[in-house]
Amino acid sequence: MASREQFSSKTGFIMAAAGSAIGLGNIWGFPTQTASNGGAAFVVVYFILAYCMAYPALMAELVIGRHSKSNIVTALKGISGDRGAPWFGVLVGIYGVVVASLILSFYAIVAGWMLSYLSESVFNIVGITQYNAWFTEFSFSRNFVFLAVFMALTMFVISRGVTAGIERWSTRLMPLLFILLVALIIYVLTQKGASEGLKVYLLPDFNQLSPKLILDAMGQAFFSLSLGVGTMLIYGSYLSEKENLPKLGAIVTFTDSGIAFVAGLLIIPAIFVAQEHGTTIFTETGSLIAGPDLIFQVLPTLFESMGSVGVFVAFAFFLLMSIAALTSSISMLEVPVSLTTEETSMKRPMATLIIGSAIFVISIIILLNFGALFGLVIDFTTVYSQPVLGILLCVFVGWIWHRNHVLKAIKSGMNDVENSFFWKIWPMYVRFICPLLILANFVQSLRG
Ligand code: PHE
Repeated sequence: MASREQFSSKTGFIMAAAGSAIGLGNIWGFPTQTASNGGAAFVVVYFILAYCMAYPALMAELVIGRHSKSNIVTALKGISGDRGAPWFGVLVGIYGVVVASLILSFYAIVAGWMLSYLSESVFNIVGITQYNAWFTEFSFSRNFVFLAVFMALTMFVISRGVTAGIERWSTRLMPLLFILLVALIIYVLTQKGASEGLKVYLLPDFNQLSPKLILDAMGQAFFSLSLGVGTMLIYGSYLSEKENLPKLGAIVTFTDSGIAFVAGLLIIPAIFVAQEHGTTIFTETGSLIAGPDLIFQVLPTLFESMGSVGVFVAFAFFLLMSIAALTSSISMLEVPVSLTTEETSMKRPMATLIIGSAIFVISIIILLNFGALFGLVIDFTTVYSQPVLGILLCVFVGWIWHRNHVLKAIKSGMNDVENSFFWKIWPMYVRFICPLLILANFVQSLRG
């Protein structure tokens, strides 16, 4: 067997894992969920849940991955040897792989829209405007073309492997993402109307707290840290035994929630700046426009009203969105590709081509039945499956895998783990609290 690839450094892992976590979920999902859940109270709840619920679950995935040095299916099958049935591990693993692939199938469609708006801004910068309608209006041809381009980019990175693909591109793109984000924030905050947005975003009104708010925050925390579907597990499996997992997991959680927070400093004030420019920002029911209309109508009209600088701001914004989407989508595709290369004799480029094409076909089926399938696939994967898988992964670490084996797996890279605060709390946490919290979330959302 060829030796298994690894991230070449700690930074490489952090860039890749943060790249996976930081995606459309942060820059679009988090600010809009904040807006539609009444502002700052949501931000506070989200932060509490990100550290108290999502971080422990992330640790479960990283520990399983680094210990097993394999994809989610093989990893769970191996752990099941302790106190369970291997077929159960295989089944849960396959469920994770299917969900990761389906998330990619809708995510790539949305990412394609970002690329089409990005292309429009490039055309506008060079003065070609006759295609603007095609770039910005919903049509099969437009959706198909940019979906294909985005899938090709994702497949290109994954076909190159762990260091030359995932690590290299994450390390190149993440700093650029950060610079774009900061530049856009500085620009938007100097515009008229921004301070009103900041108030909505930063001053909590705890009367807004509701079960729905808490559930939305939990779902958001889960999606945002890419949990449940084996992405963090496989990235953990490419980590060296020398690394301190609880620390790296904390850095990734901190970076992910930090960027979500910072993205809110851009999007929410931008909505209010758009209002200054005459755009309607509230729906008929009085809540802030939050869905696709926000990104594809409110913000573009804002960019247009900014005069000649607007095309450049639009370019920076959609480039930011496209980069965020790409570093996340590669982590989704890595899940089925790693399974295939590790369990069959197929080489990585071929596995990437076949699996990427299959997911592309699923995306096309979704596009052709957009009304019926798009929302359905999103709900099936992110609302139902990610929490279920989250519970199952906690059960694997808390109940099926032997405690001594878990300890040994964490100990590598963190010698004094037994005396740490982490080891006092975390095992009990993944055993009881995490599954129960997620279960409560899940039951509520089923009821709702
Ligand atoms: N975390 C990514 C985002 O915030 C989405 C994602 C979900 C990535 C599941 C991988 C797996 O956009």
